[in-house]
Amino acid sequence: MTLPLTASALNEWGFTEWMRASKANQEAYDDISVLDDASDAVVTVDGRKMVNFASIGFLGWQHDPAVLRAFTDAAHSYGLVTGGSRITQGVNKPHREVESLLCEITGRQRALTFASGLLANVGFVHAMTTRFSFNQQSGMDNTDSVLVLDRDCHWSVWKAAEKLKRNQNLFTFRHNDMADLRRVLGEVRGRKVVVCFETVYSADGSMAPVAEIADLCEEFGALSFADDANGFMVYGNGEPRFADEYEALRRVTFLMVSFSKAVGLEGGALMGPADAIEAFEYMSGTSMFTAAIQPPTAAAIAHVLRRMTADRSAISRYLDRVDALRAQLTAIGCVISPTPTYVTSIHVGDDEIAETLRLQFAERGYLVPVFRYPAVKKNNAVIRLLLNDRLSQDHLDGFVETLAELKREHGF
Ligand SMILES: Cc1ncc(COP(=O)(O)O)c(C=O)c1O
Repeated sequence: MTLPLTASALNEWGFTEWMRASKANQEAYDDISVLDDASDAVVTVDGRKMVNFASIGFLGWQHDPAVLRAFTDAAHSYGLVTGGSRITQGVNKPHREVESLLCEITGRQRALTFASGLLANVGFVHAMTTRFSFNQQSGMDNTDSVLVLDRDCHWSVWKAAEKLKRNQNLFTFRHNDMADLRRVLGEVRGRKVVVCFETVYSADGSMAPVAEIADLCEEFGALSFADDANGFMVYGNGEPRFADEYEALRRVTFLMVSFSKAVGLEGGALMGPADAIEAFEYMSGTSMFTAAIQPPTAAAIAHVLRRMTADRSAISRYLDRVDALRAQLTAIGCVISPTPTYVTSIHVGDDEIAETLRLQFAERGYLVPVFRYPAVKKNNAVIRLLLNDRLSQDHLDGFVETLAELKREHGF
């Protein structure tokens, strides 16, 4: 393949050397896996069957025949794409259906869907910190606002907050530390403040003290924003685990959800007071300047949401399996994340050992997600498991046996 004339100019940037060195140090992968079939409990990679612990669509809804039918029916009725920005051309009925179901489920006034959860987060932070006007005279000015972030917030929230100035309009508090949040809120009292946090944190499965955050926000007159990407449709709505946290979530001003976890499809949404959410259609940027959820996916999301609200037995059974797996891991001496959410992290520590483990698991036919720096702090590597409900007990036993063997070899 011929390189453009600018290739020598690119040398100065150092991509080639950096990728070569990162691969040699086993920091970057030689290549990412290419699956020969659909993401499922067992996948085929280069013709080889692998037991898959890496999928985040952990209930496997995409394999349900009725979900597939909802998807294909909608593809025939509404086509594959919205064919333009929401503002210029509008959305399809399934998008509106998802938005009204979200309002019912979460008790919010209005919902706005996005092509992904990441875009919902970026759009929220942008809308709450930007200036916007239709006519260059009157308009909205949120450049005087203050964002207060839990330090473990998702990359997408941090990315969108990059333009803000530390200790002027961007403040942070130690992860889940309410004394630290109180200290920060005291410093910014009287300003337009929004506190951002996650419910279930992706890396360590910890759960936010939602009621205490809501209390502090009410005491200091701050707005609140919860990224519920991980907990949506798992907790709340009658589930006894973490019921208090999810009851308190109703007091949080804005809520973000992702459809890539429990719902097992793709997309995201923001919910909250009607006028603000309507304004986000314009002010988020990630609604007006990019594509929406594809219509068949929106119809499949609506179908799954209806099924999951009508019958919670699948999620209850799933959470029982998670508890049983946690017990199996503890029994072989693993140090696992202490909060019993469905996000289970197994402590490994050393980044190099973590990468060796990933490769050894792969040799033995297991695709296992290893989180190491920069996803987590240096030498705080973990195996991050979202138990896929389509894995059989034999798959789980095989994984735990292999883990016990590798744990003995590496001594973590
Ligand atoms: C806490 C959190 N927020 C946001 C996202 C982004 O969601 P999506 O995958 O829908 O873009 C994720 C996904 O990994 C997440 O874990």
